[in-house]
Amino acid sequence: MSSSTNTNGDFQSSKWTKEGINGLIDNDRGTLDPRIYVDKDLYELELKNIFGRSWNFLAHETQIPNPGDFFQNYIGEDAVLVVRQADGSVSGFLNMCRHRGMKICRTDCGNAKTFTCSYHGWSYDRAGNLINVPMKKEAYRNEIKLEDWGPPKLEKVESYKGLIFGTWDPNAPSLTSYLGPMTFYLDHYLDRSGEGTRALGGVHKWVIPSNWKMAAEQFCDDMYHVDYSHASAMIAQLPEGADPSMASFPKDGNQFGCAEGHACSFWSSPFSNAGSGPAAMEFIMGPEREEALQRLGKVRVAEIAGMNSTVFPNFSLLGAGAFTIRTWHPKGPDETEIWSMIIVNASAPDGVVQALRKNIIRTFSPSGTFEQDDTENWAEMQRVFRGTKAQSTSLNSGMGLGHARQDERFPGTINFGYAEEGARLFYRRWKEMLTAPTWRDMSATLKEVS
Ligand code: FES
Ligand SMILES: [Fe+2]
Repeated sequence: MSSSTNTNGDFQSSKWTKEGINGLIDNDRGTLDPRIYVDKDLYELELKNIFGRSWNFLAHETQIPNPGDFFQNYIGEDAVLVVRQADGSVSGFLNMCRHRGMKICRTDCGNAKTFTCSYHGWSYDRAGNLINVPMKKEAYRNEIKLEDWGPPKLEKVESYKGLIFGTWDPNAPSLTSYLGPMTFYLDHYLDRSGEGTRALGGVHKWVIPSNWKMAAEQFCDDMYHVDYSHASAMIAQLPEGADPSMASFPKDGNQFGCAEGHACSFWSSPFSNAGSGPAAMEFIMGPEREEALQRLGKVRVAEIAGMNSTVFPNFSLLGAGAFTIRTWHPKGPDETEIWSMIIVNASAPDGVVQALRKNIIRTFSPSGTFEQDDTENWAEMQRVFRGTKAQSTSLNSGMGLGHARQDERFPGTINFGYAEEGARLFYRRWKEMLTAPTWRDMSATLKEVS
């Protein structure tokens, strides 16, 4: 019995037609239909056609360095166990026992030789193969074929500079093809040092009452909210006696989007680490910046001093030198479980790492000041969209419409910092992945799967 998953896009069983879905987002007029945040059928399609086919973030390499190290994550609502193998490769499989469906492993992370289900004791090896069932002779009369009853395995697992991704889809393009021009921007986070990056211990997890796309979309490109939603938090973090007008977001930014649906906005002042204190800033503006300049060049270090971004569909990064990564796990159309971790440059001294870590937790974490502002907005919007009148009233997504440009310094489609280009391209890809039967039917990554 094959463990592979049928990953062809399918919306035949849905109430939605392709035309209906295409009508939800109108990038020519700059409008967006609020039903994308509340409709249960759309949500089911997202789980199947988007999360079931995309490359999804699984873990940072440094979280599972040794054979047998494992980390549990989710793809859509499916629990996935990610395990380092003896040969150094990484495997992933559905964390569901094929007997009655209990989780095979109930621990978040650790090291194991085998995984034994806590219900009746079926055992699986590190690659997810069923290797033992209790009382095989007495209960199953030796008639069960163990090789038929392993959980579905991820078809592909690949890394990009420390970040491990996986997909259920055997026909998905390579990870680098899927990321497309986003790799240029990811290097800003991941390739600043010859020593790479490392994940600091622990994952913050918490639940917010809003749709996962509100967060993913904001991290694409929303610099517009910062001076309003975060005004009081920014003023509170100013040094004593400073002019409150200093608490203003840089106005020099740009934003990037691409057909693959990834997006980011970036600015040229080292704004995001300013609250880390003088020692951390000395490192960031000194040796860290020097090495990054050597490796990445002036554009990606001076023009991109800070950045927020989303890798389609639900993986976001924010910061510079030290940064937060977060996965916006969907838990129904009106609930998201946020998983956030801190990643630092592996060459950063311990004292600097601690200062950066505290600054990130102070701003972006369950107790983070900026995080509270953001999630308050999203939760209130979700409540607004319960109304039937609200659901039939379109929203404006037209900022910067008609001003997209090419810029030889930056790959992809570029717009001014205050625009919604990234979100428009994110939603264009969202429509495409919901409705395209195969990768060949999508506008990007076509050549890689021909
Ligand atoms: S559910 Fe896992 S052994 Fe029964
Ligand atoms: Fe924000």
